[in-house]
Amino acid sequence: MSISQLARSIEESPTLRLNEEARQLRERGQPVIHLGIGEPKNKAPITAILSSSAKLTSGDIKYTPSDGLPSLKKAIVKYTEEHYNKLVAPENIIVTTGAKQSIYSIIFSILNPQEEVILLTPYWVSYPEIIRMVNGIPILVTPEDGSFHPRMEDIVEAVSSYTKAIIVNSPNNPSGVVYTKEFIGEIVEFCEKKGIYLIMDDIYHQLVFDGKSAPPAYQFTKNDIETTRIIVVNGVSKSYGMTGFRIGWVLANRKLIEVMTNVQAQIISCPATVLQAAAEGALNGLQSFIENLRLTIENNAKVMMQELQTFNGIRVNEPDGTFYCLPDFRAYSNDSVSLSSFLLKKALVVTVPGKEFGLDGYLRLSYAGTVKDITEGVARMKWALDPNSPREIFIGDRKLIRDWL
Ligand SMILES: Cc1ncc(COP(=O)(O)O)c(C=O)c1O
Repeated sequence: MSISQLARSIEESPTLRLNEEARQLRERGQPVIHLGIGEPKNKAPITAILSSSAKLTSGDIKYTPSDGLPSLKKAIVKYTEEHYNKLVAPENIIVTTGAKQSIYSIIFSILNPQEEVILLTPYWVSYPEIIRMVNGIPILVTPEDGSFHPRMEDIVEAVSSYTKAIIVNSPNNPSGVVYTKEFIGEIVEFCEKKGIYLIMDDIYHQLVFDGKSAPPAYQFTKNDIETTRIIVVNGVSKSYGMTGFRIGWVLANRKLIEVMTNVQAQIISCPATVLQAAAEGALNGLQSFIENLRLTIENNAKVMMQELQTFNGIRVNEPDGTFYCLPDFRAYSNDSVSLSSFLLKKALVVTVPGKEFGLDGYLRLSYAGTVKDITEGVARMKWALDPNSPREIFIGDRKLIRDWL
């Protein structure tokens, strides 16, 4: 085979595959409900549209510096001051083509072959594959108490002389959990003492509910941006619902940013100029946009919880933030991959198997869609799984018959 062993070993992104499957089913006229989706339904902020259109209509669209447009970096400096109460210089920032590429670039730039990165289960699907792409080793730390909250003692036990970094994603995809202040404080202290990088994937940090907030790691370090081991990843995909614009960024010490810039220059030259202009427009525009989106998602999360509470056998922790929750479906099946494909086939509902996030027996359900998607989607799942539900339901004018239980 003329394809590298490493490339062949990389798994397909299950969430993107499910998006594609849902799209194809819809194209064939099937009334699919997508509870797997990782993006909200909103339109991009008008300031993002105006700023990118102005750039586009100028016709003067050339390379930008590899680490990003200086004016966008200026907006990121301001964002960091406002949301993290942290002063960073433009030299501490690299703009990337989305938070996903941010994480790949960081891992590529810090890891030697066979070095380890600790992931906290449930973890975002792409982390293990990204680590394996650079011949690193993902080490999984799984909480045993079903709380989805990592314990410091388990992390300490998992650290070895090969540990280069720990990735923390809070609010967490897929569980929706925000890690406690105490935990973030402890992990910052531990990483700084041990010289381990702490990669904070903060992509959902603005999407937190009920007046809570996600404690920023910077709050717990006495070191400045040049000496801290904290690396922060963020972007416009989730807070502004600008997933298709593909703009993210990294905050880190100058040396690491310099190395990442050399790497980025050799791979993509720079993120797309027009899309950087869009991100700049979003960051410089009215920030009430984020609050409006957050309120919609918070309301959707409540609807999802109400619907799941009347689902026999399901146990679910109320999410603190993100677009997701991770109910326990082990009362119905321990095999989340089969369960998810059963629900797609029989009830036309897309869910993401917990196995992809390191927890089999769970399904990740998204509430980023409409309230109707949530209520109808959960109703269909109940119908398909609960033996007490009626034998038949109608979806539009289509009759579905439960002939399997
Ligand atoms: C935890 C987490 N990190 C990073 C990303 C990637 O974000 P982006 O679309 O900016 O690449 C996602 C997207 O789903 C995510 O859930």
